[in-house]
Formats: sequence, structure tokens, C-alpha cells
Amino acid sequence: MTDIQELLLSRIRDVPDYPEPGVMFKDITPLLADPEAFNALTDTLAELTVRAGATKIVGLEARGFILGAPVAVCAGVGFVPVRKAGKLPGATLSQAYDLEYGSAEIEVHAEDLTADDRVMVVDDVLATGGTAEASLQLIRRAGAEVAGVSVLMELGFLGGRARLEPALGGAPLESLLQV
Ligand code: PRP
Repeated sequence: MTDIQELLLSRIRDVPDYPEPGVMFKDITPLLADPEAFNALTDTLAELTVRAGATKIVGLEARGFILGAPVAVCAGVGFVPVRKAGKLPGATLSQAYDLEYGSAEIEVHAEDLTADDRVMVVDDVLATGGTAEASLQLIRRAGAEVAGVSVLMELGFLGGRARLEPALGGAPLESLLQV
């Protein structure tokens, strides 16, 4: 494990039985509150974004906004929020996806992504991969190209990487920590 990985891991708090019994919640607020760790995370994700030749970052509500926005500024690219349904005021593209129980829907402003864009998706956690997969579908439907998906943490036991693979179409999935 690199020094940066050790620093990041040390600032993530395990919260047992949250939000429901049997779930171990990965709380990133200690990392956000530590300027050294937050900077290291931002720099690392910005480097991946520049290396991938991305022109935009898509951040996934809500923690993907906190991580994605400083990465976009640092990498010199635009930031586009993908929000839960009903939150964006303009003309949107919507994508529904399955959850363990039920379904969810995310949206993006259609005009924020164009055929000239290469898009890096940024989020805190890849769990089942459902949210990231739906975001890649939105990006493609908007006519833009997928540059990759970059997350702080990948919960390997939930199989998100395998679910995401077809939607990635050869673009990289980068996870800084595997849990
Ligand atoms: C969490 C996390 C990812 C998503 C990962 O967000 O921040 O966006 O779930 O799960 P998946 O890989 O199984 O789709 P959440 O829906 O809890 O939203 P929040 O950040 O607004 O709390």
C-alpha cells in the first residue's frame, strides 16, 4: 500500500449497523476534514482525470459532488452534477436502475454534455455499481464519450466492477482503495 493509500484509509471511519443493522458504513467525513488527506485525494483523482484526457467530470449525488468539484477545478475541466430525479430545473435525460429492493432514477442536464466531451465519473464508493452504470448510460445517451470511472473506494465483495464492465466499453475503472 502506498503512503497516500495509507493516509486515505486511515481517515475513513467504519460505522457499524448504519444505516441499517448488518451494514458497515464507510464514513469519509474525517477525510474531508483533514486538509492533507483531502488534498492528496483531490490531486490523485485530478491526475487520473488529466491522464484520461477528460474534458468534464460527472459527480454523482451527493458525495460525488464533494469529491468531484475540487478535482474538476484542479484538473482544469468542467463539472456536471448527476442528481437524483426531480432536482434539476432544466431539460434532463433520466436513467432508471435497479436497487436490491426497488429502483432509483438519476438525471443530468442534457445540454451539459456534448459530443465533444470525454467524461470522467467521480464518486466516493463503488458498491453494486448500479449508480455508476446508470451514469455511464446517461453520458452515452447525451452523445459524449466515457473517459472512465474513478472512485475513492471499491467494495469488492458486491461485484460492482463486473457489473460496470460492459458499460465502461474498455474505459478504465480506477479505485484508490479496495475494501
Ligand atoms: C452511495 C455512494 C454511491 C452509491 C454506490 O450513494 O455515494 O453514489 O451509493 O452504490 P451502488 O454502487 O450500489 O450504486 P447514496 O445513494 O447513498 O447517495 P448519497 O451520497 O446522496 O447519500
